Amino acid sequence: MSKQNRINFSSKLAVVAAAAGSAVGLGNIWRFPYELGQYGGAAFLFFYVLFVIVMGFPIMLSEFAIGRAGQSNAVGSFRKLDPKGKWWLIGVMGVITAFLIMGFYSVVSGWTLEYIYQAVTNQFSGKDSITLAANFSEFSSDSVRPVLWAVLVMVITAAIILLGVKDGIEKSTKFMMPLLFIIIIAMGIRSVTLPGGLEGLRFLFHPDFSKINSSVLLSAMGQAFFSLSLGMGCMITYGSYVNKKNKLSHTVTEVTILDSLVAVLAAVVIFPAAFAVGINPGQGPELVFITLPNVFSNLPGGQFWAILFFILLFVAALTSLISLMEVVVAFVTEQFKMKRVPVTISVTLAVLVFSVMSSLSFGAWKDVTIFGMTFFDLFDNITSKVFMPLGGLLITLFAGWVMPLNSLKQEVSNNGSLQVKWFGIYLIIIRYVAPLGILLVLLNQLGVSKWIGL
Ligand code: PFF
Repeated sequence: MSKQNRINFSSKLAVVAAAAGSAVGLGNIWRFPYELGQYGGAAFLFFYVLFVIVMGFPIMLSEFAIGRAGQSNAVGSFRKLDPKGKWWLIGVMGVITAFLIMGFYSVVSGWTLEYIYQAVTNQFSGKDSITLAANFSEFSSDSVRPVLWAVLVMVITAAIILLGVKDGIEKSTKFMMPLLFIIIIAMGIRSVTLPGGLEGLRFLFHPDFSKINSSVLLSAMGQAFFSLSLGMGCMITYGSYVNKKNKLSHTVTEVTILDSLVAVLAAVVIFPAAFAVGINPGQGPELVFITLPNVFSNLPGGQFWAILFFILLFVAALTSLISLMEVVVAFVTEQFKMKRVPVTISVTLAVLVFSVMSSLSFGAWKDVTIFGMTFFDLFDNITSKVFMPLGGLLITLFAGWVMPLNSLKQEVSNNGSLQVKWFGIYLIIIRYVAPLGILLVLLNQLGVSKWIGL
């Protein structure tokens, strides 16, 4: 196992908080419920869970192993482990992916700040769903206000990144993640006890497999990658800060379970609430911003729950943005030997260009499209449905076939001190099952599978 002189997270809890902080985010609470709503509820959930198990878990373990063995950022780790090859380009794709994700993520995070503000000033009270929907579209299509919120979000993210790995990332996530759990559990209990809420649970847990087709499969796979922050070097970067004594497979199990739990809990909060007030759960990105204010507006103590919920959403978003920014900042500072402060400031400014493009997609630029998608949809779709699965595919191939097998085994077994009876199965999965699975889903979506007779 290579030596370690890199800065380290200080405890096992800190590693889980930071990695779960990255994984648990808008992907779980904002994106997962509306994808589930659009793609038929439980059947989507079934495939999502399947992808998390056969792809998510092994890929996350591989990313941690690559980062800890390489002791460097998303690009540097590949270079260290395979100096002659071109595999470091996976890291470059990861950095680009991080930029694009931050572009739309900062906008939705900004919306959560607006909604905290609206909740605090009691603006949902007494409004029906039509008024709330109109309010959302009026706000999101504005050219200035959402952009200002996105700027504020990025400034907060940059401030935490500037504090560094220990004082910034570690301290903030260790405080915010437990808070998030408490809030979401309290909200889940509130939601299922709403009159009519059980109908929402039925939708969530009764699968209708007739709704499954190739795009649903791709969306479920993309959601698994997005939600677990995989395929773009994020877990490689965090893995490089993980202590050599940490049991990577335990950490990965905990993070994967926590992430899936929060996604399901978010659905348990949102679907009963949507059904209770008669809102269509398939309505897309605005789902949580309309459904929940509507529920809160009719609820005793609704203002309290509203403030709590949007704080939850913001906290979840922030800990993910931090990890996205760290991918880029670690890459630039290390590969180009630059200082953290100027790099963080420049990265923030560059991200804001993408943020403006994404935000205007809801208003002034809603007719500006590429491949028929607005900038917002393009950044969202191209990252989760193309770059992340492709990155994941290449990462499994790298870990399974290119990285010295010895180093891989040393990382997952902590230099032989842990029994890893499952290593053979893990190897089969990263060598064959996961890459072929990803390839099949991608080809299936492109329609290629029909030509080659699969
Ligand atoms: N996993 C985050 C979420 O579910 O919201 C999104 C994300 C964070 C993706 C960090 C990628 C990443 F590197």
